[in-house]
Amino acid sequence: MKNKSSWGKPRLGLVVTAFIGMVASRHDLVAAAGETRSVGPAPVRPPTFTEDVAPIIFQNCVSCHRPGEAAPFPLMTFEQVRKHARQIAEVTGTKFMPPWHAEAGHVAFLNPRVLSDRQKGTLRLWYEGGMSEGAAAALPKLPAFAEGWQLGKPDLIVKMEQPFKLYAEGPDIYRNFVFPLNLSEDKWVRAIEFRPGARSIVHHALFFLDPTGTARELDSADGEPGFEEKGRVGRNFTAVGGWAIGSNVRVLPEDLAYRYPKGADLVVQTHFHPTGKAEEELSTIGIFFADKPPERSFVGIQLPPAFGEISGIDIPAGVSNYVVKDSFTLPVEVDAFSVSPHAHYIAKSMTMTALRPDGSEVIILRIPDWDFAWQEQYSFKDRIRLPKGTRLETELTYDNAATNPRNPISPPVRVKWGPASTDEMGSVTMHVVPVREADVEVLRDALRNHSTDMVIDQVLQRPKHRGMVKKLIERFDKNGNGEIEGDERDELRKFVRASGWVPGNLNNSF
Ligand code: HEC
Repeated sequence: MKNKSSWGKPRLGLVVTAFIGMVASRHDLVAAAGETRSVGPAPVRPPTFTEDVAPIIFQNCVSCHRPGEAAPFPLMTFEQVRKHARQIAEVTGTKFMPPWHAEAGHVAFLNPRVLSDRQKGTLRLWYEGGMSEGAAAALPKLPAFAEGWQLGKPDLIVKMEQPFKLYAEGPDIYRNFVFPLNLSEDKWVRAIEFRPGARSIVHHALFFLDPTGTARELDSADGEPGFEEKGRVGRNFTAVGGWAIGSNVRVLPEDLAYRYPKGADLVVQTHFHPTGKAEEELSTIGIFFADKPPERSFVGIQLPPAFGEISGIDIPAGVSNYVVKDSFTLPVEVDAFSVSPHAHYIAKSMTMTALRPDGSEVIILRIPDWDFAWQEQYSFKDRIRLPKGTRLETELTYDNAATNPRNPISPPVRVKWGPASTDEMGSVTMHVVPVREADVEVLRDALRNHSTDMVIDQVLQRPKHRGMVKKLIERFDKNGNGEIEGDERDELRKFVRASGWVPGNLNNSF
């Protein structure tokens, strides 16, 4: 044992933790050996790397803590893990690692990244007990990871032809890059694997399809690769998923796929967050086709829609509990398969709840301690059936006080909705397959109406829109009662939809 001091002069706290850890580790060993019962007093021994620690680290940490992945150092050998043993005991104890922000005890997620109390105890005890290596023969094999492409060889690989240069400092940059796909027929796509060239500065990327050639035109406007114009991308193109730090490649369930129309270009909107070092970005994208057209369609239900753009997010400096809410009643029966939250730095908590018509309630997602770095996509272990009439409610809270350690601006300033990471936005998106295929359009239409109604309500309620309100009422209040209801509202909705005022793309963003 290299470090005897913690055994030599143990503090009381350490002894207690150590004892619990030893029992835990003994239990693990017994379970691993397939014994059903331990006999007599257990011959307690402190955990070793090869027998007790390596199995935990290899299974739960190496996926990111290896060369070329997101984590800052590898944890693949005894020496590497020993060097970080104190930190490992700490960050697993506080649940900072492995990163996973969904509160337990609600719906069951696929492959949750969580350690049991027993595993955490073993890591702590190993550190406190002097970090012995153990018998070499007991060392488990490192898990096998695919080199390069995570999903195997893509059916189509597209690359940026020219690097995009980024300054070391300055504001966040949103840039749209156009990747011609040259598809000679419609294709069905199950996954996109995005590989940024400059991993440390790419915060996230959103994927769109442009069948119109508009993106190519915009791209050729200046000599630089890509173009800015984020609003137009969101409004006119079809959203087909995204990538963010901390998330794995997002694959659609077996029976679902995105349609990529013949001739469409892929537009990738990349969000760069400069880190103080000048870099160049050259991304590569792998596309995986489905073998056959999918039998079912899916829809993303985003609440509030357009990442909160229509919700009037405006958070005064110093306010520590600013709340944004939205709700939507399902017009058809659906099966939900995943949920993804999105917000920036000062968001604090997020919840999406489903209230079924029979009164039963499911918490679809609750993140009590939002962390901007982990824009996760949470897949459900089993699909969740939600009947027609189920009310979905989301609530997001924001903390713009100086006491929030995640507040990037000191002293705090008023924060409004906007695309830069120091602006705010926020929504929770649940992905569903309508139980009856014919219901897909009913659901999409209800979602369009939901966004449109939010725009109408904003316009009608905002004092600064008084003049416009008067004009709208003159035009659409056919019965002259001062309100716009029933058929009048349908007419106004049509007008607002056609006007292009409703932001966000209502397609299947996954
Ligand atoms: C999904 C990827 C991922 C997994 C899985 C993961 N880590 Fe990390 N880890 C990271 C990233 C990224 C950072 C850097 C975070 C930062 O600096 O904010 C990090 C940082 C750390 C740090 C340094 C913390 C600090 O305060 O600087 C330790 C220690 C650590 N991880 C241990 C672990 C252990 C132990 C496990 C497994 C139980 C694990 N990690 C699993 C991605 C991961």
